[in-house]
Amino acid sequence: MIGAVRAPLHALSRRRGPKDLNPSVESAREASYPPPYPEGWYVVGRSTDFGSRPTFVHCVGNQWVVFRDASGNAQAVDAYCPHLGANLADGKVRGDCVECPFHGWKIRGDGSVVGQANGDRPDPRHRTRSWAVEELHGWVLVYHRHEASSDGPTPEPPYRLERVPEIDDGDLMWRGDHDAGLVHMHLLEFLENSADFQHFAAIHGRLRLPWTEIPVPGMTLHHEATWRRDETEKHVCWFGNDAELEFRGKAIKGSGAHAEVRIEGPGSFIRFDFTLNRGGGRVVLYQSNTPIDAMTQHVRFRWFSGANVPKPLASFIVGNWVSQWRQDIGIWERKIYRKNPMLTREDGPIHHLRRWYAQFYPAVS
Ligand code: FES
Ligand SMILES: [Fe+2]
Repeated sequence: MIGAVRAPLHALSRRRGPKDLNPSVESAREASYPPPYPEGWYVVGRSTDFGSRPTFVHCVGNQWVVFRDASGNAQAVDAYCPHLGANLADGKVRGDCVECPFHGWKIRGDGSVVGQANGDRPDPRHRTRSWAVEELHGWVLVYHRHEASSDGPTPEPPYRLERVPEIDDGDLMWRGDHDAGLVHMHLLEFLENSADFQHFAAIHGRLRLPWTEIPVPGMTLHHEATWRRDETEKHVCWFGNDAELEFRGKAIKGSGAHAEVRIEGPGSFIRFDFTLNRGGGRVVLYQSNTPIDAMTQHVRFRWFSGANVPKPLASFIVGNWVSQWRQDIGIWERKIYRKNPMLTREDGPIHHLRRWYAQFYPAVS
């Protein structure tokens, strides 16, 4: 599902489609990449998208039905009924169950079949696959795993997502959402960008009007980037970026911002912590990338800031980032994956990143 774009400034964002939709070119691009759906947490929508009706979700190579049980907890099971395959999203929520529209089987969030319309006692072997769900700061995420069976209750994922206590306790307030729509690229590309230090000057060297690709005359950006794996949480890596503004090549002291970026999993869920050099304000931005198919990502943003960073300033900071992100899209939508790239000493730790990323493919790690 693709929500509406809310802030009027976002309308200035120009979406570029892929420049070449030749199916042979697209399939050659896809074939150059690792498999498209690494294990991890994927955003399936905003909390407010899931109400009293079951909702069909297609992403990450799955079809799920997401519904809220009697306690309001979001649940995800396979969309198609284990009986004769009706789409459960066409059914109703009854208590803790989603009820199939075809013959009335009732299925709980753990995948068990607990009721049948004809009154027969359900066979305990009748189950469907269920999936771990997490609700975090206004988003609903489902954990996609490779080894999925309906043999037992939902397996516990290898990690849970880190919450930001300041958002939970209200010190950081919700400031906006931006649904950026679909980008025709492989999930890995966003992640790999963080370790590709050389592209910052080449692609992100111009200051843009926030939310647009319009360059600001005379203003450039100098970036210092770092990338590292987390020492204790193996599913986490960090990307750091110091961006300083320059006017006609001269640094403007105290300008710009520092971004500490926590990447949880295979690049599907990313948290940016921006610290403003002047005034020390803080903006937390989430970016989620959810594969709709192998080479199509649904990209969404959501951000928060403290009382000392009012909504327009937070929008300015986020809009700057989104403008920079848009600069990459034209490259991502046309490139292939080089398994054995010719790297130079100035390139970032791309091989380290690829080894780290391999952990999300159990079959090859
Ligand atoms: S197909 Fe769902 S109950 Fe028969
Ligand atoms: Fe980039």
